[in-house]
Amino acid sequence: MDKNVFLIDHPLIQHKLTFLRNKQTNTKEFREIVKEVTALMVYEIFRDVQLKDLEIETPISKAVGKIMTDEVAVIPILRAGLVMEEGILELIPTAKVGHIGIYRDPETLEPVEYYCKLPQDLHKSNILIVDPMLATGGSVVKAIDLVKEGGGKDIKLVCLISATPGVEKVTSKHPDVKIYTISIDSELNSHGYIVPGLGDAGDRLFGTK
Ligand code: PRP
Ligand code: URA
Repeated sequence: MDKNVFLIDHPLIQHKLTFLRNKQTNTKEFREIVKEVTALMVYEIFRDVQLKDLEIETPISKAVGKIMTDEVAVIPILRAGLVMEEGILELIPTAKVGHIGIYRDPETLEPVEYYCKLPQDLHKSNILIVDPMLATGGSVVKAIDLVKEGGGKDIKLVCLISATPGVEKVTSKHPDVKIYTISIDSELNSHGYIVPGLGDAGDRLFGTK
């Protein structure tokens, strides 16, 4: 596996992934589990985040605490990334948020961009691009292109389920980007869906099918 690809396979995450894959899981449960799993991933991703000392006073005495130095920017790819964004904001409510609208043309599987609004000063931020699915990799590569054009440098990609072709595409086009995922499935079907995957993430999150 490429040195920039990190498989987060904690037992609690594997347990929750089974409910995401199961087609009997309803929209409400699916959305809640996506939020929970994203938060668990970020907990692991931020294990080595930079901290600085902060002098404070407890009700008893002076003390030195630690706080994060990095500015965090979360950038969901619309629309399925929105629920992952919610999970991250519950943990890091000070994060700035950018939005990138991309859908995949169902015939060509090529990414189509329709919206992009990014925070300023992206070059100073620890950036998390979030999308539940990394299939052919077209959408994510396009999103990373836009974030780099906006000045982003320290970019991490957080996807729930990835497929090998998508991982290979991202590592070859953007070798500086770290990819965090909870599963790497080997195949795509003839419609570009990940096998076994979990189906259409947007439809399952928003109840649109
Ligand atoms: C899904 C998913 C990714 C993309 C992955 O979005 O959320 O953005 O497909 O496919 P790729 O790696 O082959 O580009 P979709 O196009 O279904 O849009 P939606 O979130 O608006 O439903
Ligand atoms: N988009 C999805 O939502 N699911 C897949 O399996 C592939 C692309």
